Amino acid sequence: MPEPVLAEVSVRAPAKINLHLGVGPVRADGFHPLATAYQAISLFSTVTARPAEEWSITCTASDDIDVSSVPLDDSNLALRAARLLAEHGGVTTPVSLHIDKGIPVAGGLAGGSADGAAALLACDTLWGLRTPRAQLLELAGRLGSDVPFGLVGGSAAGHGRGEVVTELGDVGTYDWVVLTNPRGMSTPAVYAEFDELTDGQSIPDPEIPAELIDALAAGDVRALAGSVGNDLQPASLRLRPELAEAMQAGLDASALAALVSGSGPTCLFLCEDTGHARQVADVLSAYGRAVLASGPVSGARVL
Ligand code: C5P
Repeated sequence: MPEPVLAEVSVRAPAKINLHLGVGPVRADGFHPLATAYQAISLFSTVTARPAEEWSITCTASDDIDVSSVPLDDSNLALRAARLLAEHGGVTTPVSLHIDKGIPVAGGLAGGSADGAAALLACDTLWGLRTPRAQLLELAGRLGSDVPFGLVGGSAAGHGRGEVVTELGDVGTYDWVVLTNPRGMSTPAVYAEFDELTDGQSIPDPEIPAELIDALAAGDVRALAGSVGNDLQPASLRLRPELAEAMQAGLDASALAALVSGSGPTCLFLCEDTGHARQVADVLSAYGRAVLASGPVSGARVL
């Protein structure tokens, strides 16, 4: 059995946004086939793993993030990740995990998935397992649809239920205003609303628009603004009509594009540069907490 080789390991993993989220009709297993273009942005979760007598988890937040709904038991994705890797690697020494969250909870930014990805890499390093990348990605996919992308980061295509990740060529950096919302949304509830709205008749094989792939390859922010989209957005807006007002306010304040992040309720505003993002954020702060973030950034990294 491998023994811990380090006293503690901290790993930082990024939030994800979906530049485009194409959603097909629900599958027999309850998941929806996706064609998505992910981008990792500069909001991060840090997970620290230490050898311990018992499995345990604690959570704090940097900034203004409410972590009161984060489970501190075996259902926590970071703890599930650690236990899954232990089982896979034949490790019997428990760890204590600490999450420092810089990604809003239940916000459509895959904050829990970032915790899971960070925990996998932290424990792999702590235990000296050197699990091959392909196996780590496979374990990540078992934990959740967005967890593999938390390891990969950058800009990437996601297929299957989101867990099949392929890096996308990109140049440049994009500036986003991320408008967070204190009241999180349940991803399954938004997908259920999508099923009702589309009556199970959405396009069976969604695709990422070629214009979006070209925009990323060229580093063309205006072309990117013209090709972003989210099939879940009508469902999120039906559940939270007030988000439409904030999105319009961002566009009126000259954001190049506005979209709901994943299943919401976080809204994203694409801007020309950091100065422009600051101006847009000033206007949007009347609607919630407006923070600046840029992408793409790298996936989970040991600190
Ligand atoms: O994979 P993950 O645990 O993040 O998914 C959470 C929930 O979101 C699933 O139980 C399912 O209801 C919904 N989902 C879906 N189709 C996907 C991804 C997630 O319906 N491709």
